[in-house]
Amino acid sequence: MAFWSKKHASRPEHRFDLSAATYASLENVSLKLGDRTVLDDVSVELQERRVGLIGLNGSGKSSLVRLLNGLRFPDSGTVRIFGAATTEVAPDLPRHVGFVFQNPDHQAIFPTVEEEIAFGLTQIGFDKKDARKGARAFLKLHDCDRLAELPFASLSEGQKQLICILAILVMEPQILVLDEPLTSLDGLASRLILKKLKSVEQRLVMISHDLSTLADFDRVLWLEDGKIRMDSVPGDVLPAYAADLDRRAAKAETGAHAL
Ligand SMILES: Nc1ncnc2c1ncn2[C@@H]1O[C@H](COP(=O)(O)OP(=O)(O)OP(=O)(O)O)[C@@H](O)[C@H]1O
Ligand SMILES: [Mg+2]
Repeated sequence: MAFWSKKHASRPEHRFDLSAATYASLENVSLKLGDRTVLDDVSVELQERRVGLIGLNGSGKSSLVRLLNGLRFPDSGTVRIFGAATTEVAPDLPRHVGFVFQNPDHQAIFPTVEEEIAFGLTQIGFDKKDARKGARAFLKLHDCDRLAELPFASLSEGQKQLICILAILVMEPQILVLDEPLTSLDGLASRLILKKLKSVEQRLVMISHDLSTLADFDRVLWLEDGKIRMDSVPGDVLPAYAADLDRRAAKAETGAHAL
């Protein structure tokens, strides 16, 4: 159930079909950055609650997820969120697709935790006073009220990432896109953040190099050189990817050119 009443959060939803089973789709999407083809004629429809994205460095994972909330647009093909082409609904995309970066310091922009959360609420129509009150309530709901007045910079890495996730969740997007959100966390923080992510009602699209974090996702896409090499349940994709890594490592030299 929504935490905020609709009177606060008036959303322009006319072009999005929020009841559609397919929440995101790429239709023959290609993307070039500089002279490099980063995504090459990719087509995929996402319906599953939790989708993982894996692949070697440079395979196009971040580029793909950035298409979902309008941080990038394709050179050809169409990206749709709840049926709406991202090129046509760009200003409204962040309300529906929240984006969490690997490094919390790249996401947070306000001095205190409460201000960071309150900002999200101003983005969905709260005035400043209500946003501060709402931020307190939201932090309490997530058992983080004791962090409210602390400087963001003073938090542990795990706390920072949790606050960044809450700063997105407070806007109640339907989709949460996460680009390696656990990479800089220690094993305990990583497990706790993952547990938190699995407890939310949002659809998750998450990039990870730690295959174990995706083991109980509903679906995993393996990207290679800007194409989808494999797309199936984790039980099929993760072992195949791990075996491919082993094969490559066994064949390659250890010099710089292999990395
Ligand atoms: N702004 C840019 N200009 C030119 N090339 C870019 C730009 N951003 C990314 N690339 C290139 O696009 C390719 C795909 O990058 P992308 O960041 O999507 O890969 P990735 O799968 O997320 O990799 P990683 O696991 O390292 O995060 C890489 O070769 C990268 O060097
Ligand atoms: Mg990346």
